[in-house]
Amino acid sequence: MDQVARSLARIESEDWAVLYNLEKLISSYEFIPIDQVIKASNLSKEEVEFRLSKLNEMNFVIRGARGYSLVSSGLDAIALNAFVKRNLISAIGKPIGMGKESDVVEAINSMGREYVIKFYRIGRISFRAVRKKRRYVTTFGGHHWLIVNIQAAKKEYDALKKLSPIGVSVPEAIARERHAILMKKIVGSMLSDIKVLDFPAKVLQDIIDNVKLAYTVGGIVNGDLSEYNILYDGEKVWIIDWPQYVDKDHPNSSILLDRDLLNILRFFNKRFKVDCKLESASFYVRGWSDKLEIF
Ligand SMILES: Nc1ncnc2c1ncn2[C@@H]1O[C@H](COP(=O)(O)OP(=O)(O)OP(=O)(O)O)[C@@H](O)[C@H]1O
Ligand SMILES: [Mg+2]
Repeated sequence: MDQVARSLARIESEDWAVLYNLEKLISSYEFIPIDQVIKASNLSKEEVEFRLSKLNEMNFVIRGARGYSLVSSGLDAIALNAFVKRNLISAIGKPIGMGKESDVVEAINSMGREYVIKFYRIGRISFRAVRKKRRYVTTFGGHHWLIVNIQAAKKEYDALKKLSPIGVSVPEAIARERHAILMKKIVGSMLSDIKVLDFPAKVLQDIIDNVKLAYTVGGIVNGDLSEYNILYDGEKVWIIDWPQYVDKDHPNSSILLDRDLLNILRFFNKRFKVDCKLESASFYVRGWSDKLEIF
């Protein structure tokens, strides 16, 4: 990522033209024939060849037997450039999270406000497992990981935009570009890293109240809730990581809601010796009871 950011200064307008055209054609070809790039970009053959080898050397594209393909660092460059052009960020900082499905890096704007950018990286690790979960069929009959990642970012961005205004404690999303989401930085720790809490029952109540608000008012279930997707800043919890959310009226929403709750209840029971039954939490979240029984 650092390298991508440093390379931005070296990219000239002809390079951008070629990159954008490769991006436009990703769903049509696995490897985009040079002729197509020439046609789309209005540049000469020599110019396009020169630009492609420069982009190749920068690791933004790869060369195949039948043409070129944009790779994830090329899309990173496009997304970063777009955030900069929109005056949303002025620099990126250190990486703060490298999950299974994303890289999260710090960023600041010209006023010094701190953000993070989450770059989706689905397909980087377990290709087969992901293929089962998320399908995206392209016109060439395959699927392109970059498109899968763009769609995941869109989905998470939509969830954050829906949840923030109704008061669910999620990081405020500022913008999305391609497979990247720019959001406010939360200063806190992942719940899984916290060994001691002064009032664990209060923290559990806070989590479940947020799950309830997301469900009853937002109409959505996270679907991947666990101690790894909750941050705690010493005062309140923040629920992160929403690309797999499901709507309340999805046939699996009820099962997923209970699974989310169970993950959290088990964690609190094991780590902090707090007891709360699934039935109590589940009824409470669905609005069937007003009282959450935590012991
Ligand atoms: N808004 C934020 N502010 C601060 N840190 C964040 C923010 N969003 C994400 N992070 C950090 O980045 C990590 C990865 O984020 P997230 O869980 O959204 O991605 P992920 O790729 O799905 O991770 P995993 O696959 O490991 O669950 C988080 O554990 C957290 O440490
Ligand atoms: Mg996560």
